[in-house]
Amino acid sequence: MTKTVVVVGTQWGDEGKGKITEYLSSKANIVVRYQGGNNAGHTIVFKQEKFKLNLIPSGIFRAEKVYLGNGMVINPKALIEEMKVLNRKGIDTSSIRISNRAHVILPYHIELDCLQEELKADQKVGTTKKGIGPAYVDKYDRIGIRIGEFIDSEIFGEKLQINLAEKNKLFSLYNKPPLCFQEIYQEYLEYARILKPYVTDTSYELDEAYRLGKKILFEGAQGIMLDIDHGTYPFVTSSNPSAGAVSIGAGIGPNLIDEVVGVVKAYSTRVGEGAFPTELKDEIGDYIRDRGNEYGTVTGRPRRIGWFDGVIVSQSRRVSGLTGLSINLLDVLSGLKTLKLCVAYELAGEEIKYVPATIKEFSKCTPKYIEMPGWSEDITQIKQFSELPLNAQNYVKKIEEITKVPVVMVSVGPDREQTIIIKTIF
Ligand code: IMP
Repeated sequence: MTKTVVVVGTQWGDEGKGKITEYLSSKANIVVRYQGGNNAGHTIVFKQEKFKLNLIPSGIFRAEKVYLGNGMVINPKALIEEMKVLNRKGIDTSSIRISNRAHVILPYHIELDCLQEELKADQKVGTTKKGIGPAYVDKYDRIGIRIGEFIDSEIFGEKLQINLAEKNKLFSLYNKPPLCFQEIYQEYLEYARILKPYVTDTSYELDEAYRLGKKILFEGAQGIMLDIDHGTYPFVTSSNPSAGAVSIGAGIGPNLIDEVVGVVKAYSTRVGEGAFPTELKDEIGDYIRDRGNEYGTVTGRPRRIGWFDGVIVSQSRRVSGLTGLSINLLDVLSGLKTLKLCVAYELAGEEIKYVPATIKEFSKCTPKYIEMPGWSEDITQIKQFSELPLNAQNYVKKIEEITKVPVVMVSVGPDREQTIIIKTIF
């Protein structure tokens, strides 16, 4: 019996993981996030209402408990704001548990994120400017402030003072005014007071829940190409969105993971800078962007659009050990006469089927496509795979063939009902 499922992004993030995790969470008892912070953004339609979530796992609408794991970096102000928005709409947030080992994002992280991007000029990463990178840097530099320390006013005060002294020296190098200790301390003490009741040892609780037979869903943020190790470094985020990070970022053994569902768009999108071999800078790209409403949830930036890239999704299968694929936004492609799928790259006259490690090489990769006929029918109300137009069925089967991962779900619209289930998970 499946007890644990991981949901990961198999492209550049924004694959629609929120919809799938929200759907799967109706079968799970517990939903856990294990990396990243409020750089992530899910739009979830629940009971005909749209919700935007950045930090809180999508399971908040249905699961018994939702966990913010130790691998996350948490902006307390943003978290409280998100809780308030949900509460105002009648959603109970008392089921949230926050790891005492997760790291806190403070105003100086955000300031540094902006300054560093500015300094990098045309080499900028295109971050979400939420302070994610600088907070992870502090974690690995062993000067970060963990949630468990944050809720202890004495330790928080001491560490904040030391860190701020160092950061203010940095700000002076950037010709920026220093940040005021008292202002931050007083404001964040109040956030700590609000969040304290939610803080716990999440690894310990998850272990107990697992032993009691609870079903656990792990929700990844971002996607494989933004993984700090396996993505298009340096145009990546500062954590590991791939499934291997579940074990570290939630504090559970890797042997406890039963299924890994990769969420994939029927095409590709990317926000921020960096090479993108299958990018479409033409009217087809505009058509997909409009139909798919491809604008960032966090920053509102228009997303870059491209054809489906089988090399990248295969890399995701390899790194994350995908056991199933969930294809999203298939309906967006309706109306296109011909569809292209990238099956390999050409690099220096050679065919390769992996993503090269350097940006220099990656930006020289030209995609090798196969073409398939499209379909014109509206597929948004279809409930069975066999009812899809034949060309749409063939497109899905081709993705399966290219990636070597069985397709378990196909999404044909934003609503939870607009999901074709091929294999039941959980
Ligand atoms: P950061 O995570 O804010 O440091 O941004 C680093 C890179 O990851 C930038 O290219 C961002 O646009 C991208 N990124 C971060 N989070 C997401 C996400 O949830 N979806 C898509 N792109 C993201």
